[in-house]
Amino acid sequence: MTAAMPSPAPDAPNAPSPIAAAGAVDASKIYGSGDSQVKALDDVTVAFETGKFTAIMGPSGSGKSTLLHCLAGLDTLTSGATYIGDKYLAKLGDKELTELRRTDVGFVFQAFNLIPTLTAEPLSWSWSSAGETGDAAQIDQVVTAVKLEGRLKHRPSELSGGQQQRVAVARALASRPKIIFADEPTGNLDSETGAEILDFMRRAVREFGQTIVMVTHDPSAASYADRVVFVGDGKIVGELNNPTADQVIDQMKQHGS
Ligand SMILES: Nc1ncnc2c1ncn2[C@@H]1O[C@H](COP(=O)(O)OP(=O)(O)OP(=O)(O)O)[C@@H](O)[C@H]1O
Ligand SMILES: [Mg+2]
Repeated sequence: MTAAMPSPAPDAPNAPSPIAAAGAVDASKIYGSGDSQVKALDDVTVAFETGKFTAIMGPSGSGKSTLLHCLAGLDTLTSGATYIGDKYLAKLGDKELTELRRTDVGFVFQAFNLIPTLTAEPLSWSWSSAGETGDAAQIDQVVTAVKLEGRLKHRPSELSGGQQQRVAVARALASRPKIIFADEPTGNLDSETGAEILDFMRRAVREFGQTIVMVTHDPSAASYADRVVFVGDGKIVGELNNPTADQVIDQMKQHGS
């Protein structure tokens, strides 16, 4: 089922439906000005249902990362609105936005991108910081699932790229945020490790009701999701529910990605 589109509420022009964990309404993002202007998002309205695993696909430069960054409050729109739950992000002050990002939002960046403090600290430190909002059993489960048990005394610089990416995914899951945005989380992993991470993400959705929105270029990765949203030229151009990899490939051909 597709999450209902946001509907009007008193404190914001288009507050989201209660079943949407996040959403965008008439969202546009323009980078640059004059001749170098780029419309990265062009009037996007989309909602992401709570407790679902959604994949976002589309050609390089189509606006996928921009959409994720704006939904997560890491970047701001030129016009329109983004929501996390019923919170209208443009209305939040810096302090509220920081708190929202800390407690409600997990983010796995495109490519390897661990938080800078992690580069100097052993991984065990990162679990204690995730533990602020997650619980110890959950963190143990995550560490085991991503096969990092023997590595907690290591620093990220002592880990392979794939291991670092697993840490990024595990950290996002361990704190049990309301929603996790993952930008190509398996893009740099071998297919076996990628499948393990995707399976783990899907279990987090099925078993813990986690909400995940994941950008991917890979049809088989997208087939782990409950729904695939296709983006082209900054617009939503299609979607599939309960997709198979073959259906995803067909849609990608239709949308020229
Ligand atoms: N900070 C920026 N300044 C100027 N233009 C930008 C900026 N970030 C993104 N863009 C442009 O906005 C458009 C959308 O970029 P975005 O990174 O969202 O694409 P994407 O779909 O994530 O692509 P990819 O699959 O390659 O990661 C592109 O044309 C890009 O060049
Ligand atoms: Mg991107």
